[in-house]
Amino acid sequence: LAPRDMAGKQVLVTLGPTREPWDAVRFWSNPSSGTMGACVAVAAYLRGADVTVVAGPTGLTFPCDMAVVSVTTARQMYEACTDLWPSMDMACLTAAVADYRPVPFGESKFKKSTSAGAGITVEFETNPDILKSLGESKRDGQKLIGFAAETDNIREEAARKLAAKNLDLIAANNIGKAGSGFGVATNEMFVLDAKGRKEQWPQLPKTEVAWRLWDHLLL
Ligand code: PMT
Repeated sequence: LAPRDMAGKQVLVTLGPTREPWDAVRFWSNPSSGTMGACVAVAAYLRGADVTVVAGPTGLTFPCDMAVVSVTTARQMYEACTDLWPSMDMACLTAAVADYRPVPFGESKFKKSTSAGAGITVEFETNPDILKSLGESKRDGQKLIGFAAETDNIREEAARKLAAKNLDLIAANNIGKAGSGFGVATNEMFVLDAKGRKEQWPQLPKTEVAWRLWDHLLL
């Protein structure tokens, strides 16, 4: 039986990609399947927490008594999370949020003939950093977990993000390695917390990673 050590806790989890539209049919996104976040959400749920998921487009389904807010863009995810955060005890942000969004071409479909074969240039604008914003408004007693998707200098990047975003714990994955990161059932994490504890975990099922993350935060 799962320990109910998160009973009564209000927990926010973000997951999946965001999609940033450019024209009527095209968008900027990434291959996040939402699996890592779903494992984090279900682990908290099994441990007795009241879980609210803010989900980008994934097609995943969740237990019927879990609150799910479906969003598409980073700005929608930001609005949902900043509204929810004051009433939460903990949040774990696993979503692969697009840092930039294309400056929209418009409501119609861009036609190839418009560029007359000369190629196109798309400009990008900066999206809000949801994790940073939650960290800045974190009150006493609230706990915040961030993820970091890295290909290089994983430990340094994890330490930088932990401090810059006022986190209690950061879980960094090497997205350049087979069996880790986007779209697979396993992950390999370097975990660092605000108390200075560091752990390198072997490649594990995402279900196990999720369970260990809550263990680590609650210890
Ligand atoms: O969904 P899966 O297929 O299972 O894949 C899992 C995963 C690879 C998506 C996941 O393990 C992961 O690494 N998630 C974080 C992806 C990411 O955006 O990393 P980042 O280093 O760019 O962002 C750092 C943190 O800031 C993350 O917690 C992210 O959710 C958050 N962020 C980032 C940008 C932004 N504008 N707002 C944010 O809140």
